[in-house]
Amino acid sequence: MSPKGKSAKPYSIRSAVFATISVLGMVAHANAQSTWTVTTLHPPGAATASRLESAGPLQGGYITLGVGVQNAAVWDGTPSSMVNLHPPGSTRSLVQGGGDGQQVGRASFTSLTVPTRAMLWTGSASSMVDLHPEGWAFSEAFDAAGGQQVGVAQFSAAFVSSAVMWTGSAESFVRLDPPNGTGASQALGTDGVQQVGTWVGGFGGSSALRASLWSGTAASHVDLHPPSGLLSRATAVSRGQQVGWVQLPASEPGGDRPEVASLWTGSAASWVNLNPAGASSSRANGVFNGLQVGSAQTAMGERASLWRGTAASWVNLHTFVPSEFSSSTATDISTVNGFLIISGYGFNTANNRTEALIWTAPDPGCDTLDPAPLDASVEYESIQAIFTGGPGQPARCTTCHSPNVSAGLSFAPENSFAALVNVDSSQDPTIKRVVPFSSGASLLFRKVNCNAPGVGSRMPLGRAALSLDEQRLIRDWIDQGAVQRQRVLVNGFE
Ligand code: HEC
Repeated sequence: MSPKGKSAKPYSIRSAVFATISVLGMVAHANAQSTWTVTTLHPPGAATASRLESAGPLQGGYITLGVGVQNAAVWDGTPSSMVNLHPPGSTRSLVQGGGDGQQVGRASFTSLTVPTRAMLWTGSASSMVDLHPEGWAFSEAFDAAGGQQVGVAQFSAAFVSSAVMWTGSAESFVRLDPPNGTGASQALGTDGVQQVGTWVGGFGGSSALRASLWSGTAASHVDLHPPSGLLSRATAVSRGQQVGWVQLPASEPGGDRPEVASLWTGSAASWVNLNPAGASSSRANGVFNGLQVGSAQTAMGERASLWRGTAASWVNLHTFVPSEFSSSTATDISTVNGFLIISGYGFNTANNRTEALIWTAPDPGCDTLDPAPLDASVEYESIQAIFTGGPGQPARCTTCHSPNVSAGLSFAPENSFAALVNVDSSQDPTIKRVVPFSSGASLLFRKVNCNAPGVGSRMPLGRAALSLDEQRLIRDWIDQGAVQRQRVLVNGFE
């Protein structure tokens, strides 16, 4: 669930799936409304089921052999590329998530005193690292990105479970359970910077699951649970956007309590209900570059789903799936070499089994930026200098945005900050120009980072793109909170 596409292996996925797409001569411009190519990755051989849980240069998941023996597995874009990761002596192993070339999950060994243990792989069975924290009774991992792995561990059967984070080894594990929590917690997603999951809040008698956000420490815990929800869970995070689901009260007495796919940008107040019109329930499982994936329950059955920030933006990804599939689910989204890739699975009625599926489409062409911040505390002056120029620096955005105000947006120094932060796009009021702490949700960043930003054209219009460092500065300024001044003045001095 991570934007980065690093892998030591050559990308055979590009030659396999993506070459087919270019032969078909598909449009080079894609967005949420694109045409998607769907490929089954079900491996040749004896597997009775297969599913994908992570997307990226490698796709992690698992296969089922015989009667319900699951084996962790990883793919590289084709059915025959599947590598079985199952450790010798294990009764059951699963990849439950991953990114940046890593796969994480769990393996069970009836021969060991602690049978179920969190595991990390990097593309091969021999790469397996046992992440289980020494002295604990149970652990499993749910996601990996940017060198971080997240999951859950239980100290003993008598203790509730704790959200945990690792950085590559069993010894590296840290607990994330909120200090004021009385109950269990789980970490389900990471983008290498933030972690998401759920915890049992224990607020005044309410002990429901509450969607949660962390930034690397237990003390950083933010409760994302919306007041109207009964239960909530955050499952994935990317650059300041968090997704998951919220269970809502029944609309009539005795009715079903629907779970609805949900999107947040860092706070409970930012909650957006993504449930598509006509769907009885939905879940969001993955997020990347302003796009969210999951599934929706329609009258036709379960449908793999894609959103761009709103319920109205819903795309039914099942329409691209071959007709023998009766249902489908999307679990993760990422980018590989100019293509968006969505992982998931569907039920194939002809073969009477669940099969691993990937959806691919040309990427809107967002530049890949170094994930590390260019500057640890960006001043707004540096952003203004990109817009209007500075010493030795050409103006990149004026003429069209000051004194003229294209799309009602002025970049004049006295106006620009107030025109950007928490202000709706004049062209699509469901999107904000800048959402503090979330470059993924901010139109300003997409407009300078992507060829197809979703609203209008890439900026600066008709001119050379901003340099990668200029794009990083804008990204970092937003992700650091989009403030006007970082250094606080005390009596006129810094
Ligand atoms: C040659 C003229 C031109 C230049 C230069 C230009 N823009 Fe624009 N900008 C436009 C036009 C026209 C629109 C409206 C159509 C669109 O969004 O494609 C727009 C729209 C936008 C929007 C969307 C505003 C909204 O509320 O929907 C943003 C953000 C933006 N520009 C940022 C920039 C930035 C940042 C730069 C400099 C890096 C820049 N623009 C340079 C012409 C320009």
